[in-house]
Amino acid sequence: MAKPFYLTTPIYYVNDRPHIGHVYTTVLADVAARFHRMLGEDVYFLTGTDEHGQKVEKAAAARGIAPKALADEVVQNYYDVFGRMGFTHDRFIRTTDADHREVVQARFRQLLETGDIYKATYKGLYSVSDEAFVTETQAKELQAQGLAHQLVELEEETYFFRLSKYGQPLLDFYAAHPAFVQPDFRFNEVKRFVEGGLQDLSISRTSITWGIPVPDDPKHVVYVWFDALLNYLTGAKGQAWPPDLQLVGKDILRFHAVYWPAFLMAMGLELPKAILAHGWWLMGSDKMSKSKGNIVRPDTLLRFGNDAMRYFFMRDMQIGHDREFSFESLMDRLNADLANGLGNLASRSLSMLRRYRDGVVPEGAATDDDDRAAMDQLKIAQNAYFEAARHHDFGGALEHLWAYLRWLDGYIVKAEPWKLAKDPVHAAKLDAVLANLYRALRATALMVAPVMPDLAQALWEDLGLEGRAADRGFQGFEPFSPAPGPVRDPRPLFARIDKEQELKAMEEMSAPSTQEAAAPSAPALDVPPVKEDIDYDTFARTDLRVGLILEAEEVPKSKKLIKMKVDLGFEQRTILGGIKEAYAPADLVGKRVVVVANLAPRALMGIESHGMLLAASDNNSKPYLVAPPDDALPGFIVK
Ligand code: MSP
Repeated sequence: MAKPFYLTTPIYYVNDRPHIGHVYTTVLADVAARFHRMLGEDVYFLTGTDEHGQKVEKAAAARGIAPKALADEVVQNYYDVFGRMGFTHDRFIRTTDADHREVVQARFRQLLETGDIYKATYKGLYSVSDEAFVTETQAKELQAQGLAHQLVELEEETYFFRLSKYGQPLLDFYAAHPAFVQPDFRFNEVKRFVEGGLQDLSISRTSITWGIPVPDDPKHVVYVWFDALLNYLTGAKGQAWPPDLQLVGKDILRFHAVYWPAFLMAMGLELPKAILAHGWWLMGSDKMSKSKGNIVRPDTLLRFGNDAMRYFFMRDMQIGHDREFSFESLMDRLNADLANGLGNLASRSLSMLRRYRDGVVPEGAATDDDDRAAMDQLKIAQNAYFEAARHHDFGGALEHLWAYLRWLDGYIVKAEPWKLAKDPVHAAKLDAVLANLYRALRATALMVAPVMPDLAQALWEDLGLEGRAADRGFQGFEPFSPAPGPVRDPRPLFARIDKEQELKAMEEMSAPSTQEAAAPSAPALDVPPVKEDIDYDTFARTDLRVGLILEAEEVPKSKKLIKMKVDLGFEQRTILGGIKEAYAPADLVGKRVVVVANLAPRALMGIESHGMLLAASDNNSKPYLVAPPDDALPGFIVK
């Protein structure tokens, strides 16, 4: 069997539900997979979860459950989101899968036998957050960044991988494969790191138990990165090896471009063809993180539709660089490019074809330089698209395509088809214009198909074409003749987003139902009748706790929301409340409140709220926060 194009994403830790950073990489991989399939290649696409190690062990301990139980729970979120997003991976691997455990143990044994793994005592500094021993240089870097507290002195018996032996072979390999890491500036960082000298790498742990046991020495578990990286080997099942493209975030490039190829060299296996490191989605200039409460979850974006989210991800992120995320730029981008740009062009062109030619596409030979330019520009746009897309720069590819769509707007304005249609003497020119627009839209449907499969298909069908655009592949460009059946009445490809209304809706999702517009003069008490009876057990499912507000700030652009940091005794949470009209942030700090502690988190205005504050009000008045007495401590149960 011919070797497929083998494509991988990182495998995701199961200490948290997926956020847009995780789905971004997978969207990128899915777009690449669909692109290569449309080129006519056989694709094998692997993604999955990284389930062992200290991070997961700790997260499970905090919840009081077994690590595997946590993994089983969190992986469901991944299945759910990846399913809803229609990802086309061929396998979803979990590092707790039995075949993976076998591969890791077999490879560990192989390297023990060849002497590339050996047992010794390690004494030195260990970075808790990276789960890795650090060199003196790295320790200095961390100290300079004020992260010295992450370092601990450790002395333990451990298995080492003889990484030091692979410094020169790696540098030779990099020199022979100048496109091994993309983009170049990241490759340079990798080279500099290796040139700085490599020390042997500890690849077992005795401090944790949640991992794959070292063969014949189960006191040790295999270091989570050795375990995790080998997922690509397990997943390949031999016939797909080696990977053609490995997508990673910039933060895990060193593991993939240094350790991973060194492991493979030691195992005598062929190395991956290319590693593409992308940048990060940032909130403001910050990293997204749970403690900052600024995580954006895929659900918040999926309200605009799956294709729209994919388009935004591909178009707005320049591969390799970081990008600030904002709902406003998201909505601006979708309105400009999808509702206006492509949507408008498609509906104008198809309407004209129906009105002037009963939906039948004319042969339409060029009649003048403008018509010829329209055909030339299409070729140029197509070539530029493929040049960028072959390098997996889908943002660049879309940019070229949209520049061409804008050019076509000018072509229409100049040709004025509505005037041509008035006099049959201009029939040939009108045919040429309509045929050019049709040809452009058909090519566009194919070129956007990897990024927006559903939108592309809708356009394809409106063009009167049969089957699936994606199945037609890029051979579908040619031949143009004979023209197919009549075009359909165009459906709106993308409904324009009302930005103001959308921002308001996001905000209203946050407002408690008792927060109707305040009518200050409302005299009478306006409360609904008491709800139907519930039994005690139903009530007891609500976990109410005393909380202490530590910080409070207004949420920009929101009329109602205040973001608070609330101490619950056992942890601190970010909680949003629709109470801005009633309380100033400064007055909230130091207040005791009652928190619904087990309310599922939800995102409001791009910020995730982990709980809700109880407030009293009738349907017209402002909310009054329910306040426990000062001697009730944070964390106390309210019942
Ligand atoms: N489990 C390791 C990877 C092992 S691969 C053998 C891991 N997991 S992770 O869940 O923390 O991160 C997975 C990927 O998500 C990384 O590539 C990381 O760069 C990416 N992202 C996490 N947050 C991100 C953003 N805010 N923006 C873009 N991608 C980011 O690391």
